[in-house]
Formats: sequence, C-alpha cells, structure tokens
Amino acid sequence: MTPVPPVLLLGAGRMGSALFAGWCAAGLEPSVLVDPSMPSGLARPGDRVVASLDDVPAGFVPGAVVLAIKPQVAPGVLPALSARLPDGAPVVSILAGLTIARLQALLPRAGAIVRAMPNTPAAIGQGMTVAFAGADTTPAQRALCHRLLAAGGALAWVEDEALIDPITAVSGCGPAYVFLLAELMEQEGLALGIPAPLSRLLARQTVAGAGALLAASPEDSAELRRAVTSPNGVTERALAELMRQDAWPASVRAALQAATARSRELAR
Ligand SMILES: NC(=O)c1ccc[n+]([C@@H]2O[C@H](COP(=O)([O-])OP(=O)(O)OC[C@H]3O[C@@H](n4cnc5c(N)ncnc54)[C@H](OP(=O)(O)O)[C@@H]3O)[C@@H](O)[C@H]2O)c1
Repeated sequence: MTPVPPVLLLGAGRMGSALFAGWCAAGLEPSVLVDPSMPSGLARPGDRVVASLDDVPAGFVPGAVVLAIKPQVAPGVLPALSARLPDGAPVVSILAGLTIARLQALLPRAGAIVRAMPNTPAAIGQGMTVAFAGADTTPAQRALCHRLLAAGGALAWVEDEALIDPITAVSGCGPAYVFLLAELMEQEGLALGIPAPLSRLLARQTVAGAGALLAASPEDSAELRRAVTSPNGVTERALAELMRQDAWPASVRAALQAATARSRELAR
C-alpha cells in the first residue's frame, strides 16, 4: 500500500475524526491534528494532537490540509492558517456552505482548494462524499484529494459547484432523516405495545437491513419497495397512509428545499 502523505487536520470533531480514521486505515503517514479539545484517542504513535495552529511543529510539512471546523469559526481561524500553508499542498474543505470563492478570500495564499461534502457513515467507511475541485487544482493534487476522500466510502466529483447545496441536503444531511425514521418507528412500536428493547431492535435492524439490501441489490429502491407490497396487504395499507395527500413526497420535498436554501444562506 502506497502511504498517504501526512495531513494537517484542522478540527477533529465528529467528521474530522471520522475522516482521520479512514486515512489511518488507508496508510496515512504521521500527521498533525489541531483541535482545542485535544482528542487523544484518535492519534497513533507519531501523530501530534495540538490545541492551536501556533503549536504545529515548525518542521511539519503536510501533503494536504483538511478543514473540518464549524463554518462559523472559519473567518476567525483561516487567515492565520493562510500564512502557514505549504506550497503545493491542496486544501480540502468540508465546511457546509463555504464556497471556493469565500475560502480563497479567507486563505489568500492557498493554491488548490477542493470543496467536499461527506456524511457521517464515513466513520465506518460507508460514507457518501461529493467533491468539487477549484480551478487551480492540478491532476496530482486532485488525485491526492481523491485518495483522502475515498477513504470514507463512495466518492463522486461534480464539475458544477452550485450542486454542492442540494447535495448537502440529500447526502450530507441524509443520515439524519434515516435516523429520524428509526427513532419514529421505535416510538410508535412502543405505543403499539411492543416492549421497549424489542421496539428499539426492530427499528434499528429494519433500517440497517433495508439499507444493506439496497446496497447489495441491483434493483432500484422503488422496485424493492414494490417487492414487499402485496396488493391489498399490510404494507400497502401502511404506504397508503404515508402517501395520503402526497404526505411523504411533500415533506421530503420541503425538507430538501429548506436544507438547500440553508446551505445557500450559509454561503452568503
Ligand atoms: N456532521 C456532519 O454530518 C457533517 C456532514 C458534512 C459536513 N460537515 C461539516 O464538517 C464540519 C465539522 O462538523 P462536525 O459535525 O464534525 O463538528 P464538530 O464535531 O463540532 O467538530 C468541529 C471541531 O472543530 C474544533 N475546533 C473549534 N475551533 C477550532 C480551531 N480554532 N482550530 C481547530 N479546531 C477547532 C471543535 O472543538 P470544540 O468542540 O472544542 O470547539 C470540534 O472538535 C462542519 O463544517 C460541517 O459543516 C459535517
């Protein structure tokens, strides 16, 4: 396995640590994580975890810099990073709503910037990441970013940055919709008299099993749904409720539109 060049990771919270775990599995060279909460559990021997950019060892030259801080803190943090960016190292940002143009304004010394939108299943190598490369990205820089981002699961590149907003609404936020479904199924199972531990198991295993079947199946999701819906059967009765007056399609449409609008709002 060719080693993955060292990374400077800014922000080792939920997403940053998920990505870092994937890079380690892919053969990441000793790297530096910057996070004020100093999460020590992630680091391997040879890695450094520091509280601020001021503590990054002077001789450390990363192959790539990855931004996984909250968008709100970026204006206060990125200008200080800009002065320290090593020549040639691409910057990968997973910050929701921050466009390449905005990142360039905050990081005037940056050359290549890649904007990416991962999701939390990256923590177990089952993520979905979509990436967009800024104009100054060379094929070699793009290939390195590809390697880093693909470590968390599936990766797709888009050539239109504007797509990142609806993509955020679908796959970036998507795990939350699925977890909400599991949460509601568990609650309603309980309300129907199923004992709590069993209701929890039923909801979790059903969501996980259906996801695994979808992933393993060549058929599309509508086909799989039809396969469990016998005419005049129990599932059909339930689906009639979900689709009554377009209930589910309308609420999914409204949710994705609201999330897309919020992502655009964050970019302003
Ligand atoms: N979570 C998702 O599903 C998801 C999906 C796609 C993209 N994203 C993007 O990923 C980014 C991180 O989200 P998250 O959910 O991982 O948030 P998070 O868990 O809060 O992680 C952010 C981390 O950054 C640290 N931090 C704060 N100030 C810092 C600084 N000056 N230098 C270095 N680190 C600093 C925070 O430490 P403290 O807690 O001590 O402040 C925290 O550990 C966001 O921009 C978000 O838009 C998230």
